[in-house]
Amino acid sequence: MFDAKAYYDRLSKYALDIRKMTDMVPDVAIVLGSGLGDFAKNIRIECEIPYEDLDGFPVSTAPGHSGRFIFGTLNGVKVVCMKGRVHYYEGYEMREVVLPLRVMRLLGAHTVIITNAVGCMNPDYSIGSFMVSRDCIASFVPSPLIGPNIEELGERFTDVSEIYDADLRAKVLSIGEREGIEVHEGVFIQLTGPQFETASEIKMYRSFGADCCGMSSAVEAIAAAHMGMKVCGISCITNMSTGISENKLSGEEVIETANKVAGNFEKLITELVENI
Ligand code: HPA
Repeated sequence: MFDAKAYYDRLSKYALDIRKMTDMVPDVAIVLGSGLGDFAKNIRIECEIPYEDLDGFPVSTAPGHSGRFIFGTLNGVKVVCMKGRVHYYEGYEMREVVLPLRVMRLLGAHTVIITNAVGCMNPDYSIGSFMVSRDCIASFVPSPLIGPNIEELGERFTDVSEIYDADLRAKVLSIGEREGIEVHEGVFIQLTGPQFETASEIKMYRSFGADCCGMSSAVEAIAAAHMGMKVCGISCITNMSTGISENKLSGEEVIETANKVAGNFEKLITELVENI
């Protein structure tokens, strides 16, 4: 049986170890997905902590996800960024996948912006545009809250009726409008990966109401909701899904598109942080 006390002791130890390296108390946590690798250049950096400096911390193996916390200020707002995340498909348990987010909460962050690259099954959206999540479907991945509840973090049964904060969603949409960046509001579905989806799977997910899919993020939103954080999910649409597009999908295409529209992605996140 999973040892919830040992897990919470680990979280507390990471928070304490980080406190020895920086006394900054962040307000906003940002999980940087594909295409936002250079986001830190906009931040007045106070402290960078590679995950491998924290003993036993989950370390990402995915290409383009080097793995470090970046503490600093973004136009005066205190932020902590996760540059690199671990994925379920790498073989980590879900509780390890959400561990860095939980540490950021223990360090003080009350709001989290979760970003990622996604495939799109809504034919009205276009490649290179963005989607702010109105809701998510996480029924195809294990809940990060399975196991004895960690009372210090939150309650046993978490309300997720408004998992993504309505005010933050509205702000992202209006920033998109003002900046001339195409931003949609839709439903995100998390799948395990690492294979992309079959055409039949995409038809099924679409019939369930999903607009975009990815291999991370919904479980992070759930863990954040458990801890009472405000959550905003912003996705970069890097490709149309199997069966929507005739093209074969590839990880290279995902990274290439994400890099192409990184400037718009950065603009959305920066202006949102300024307005939180
Ligand atoms: N499917 C799942 N995850 C993704 C995709 C996709 O098509 N594109 C980027 N991340």
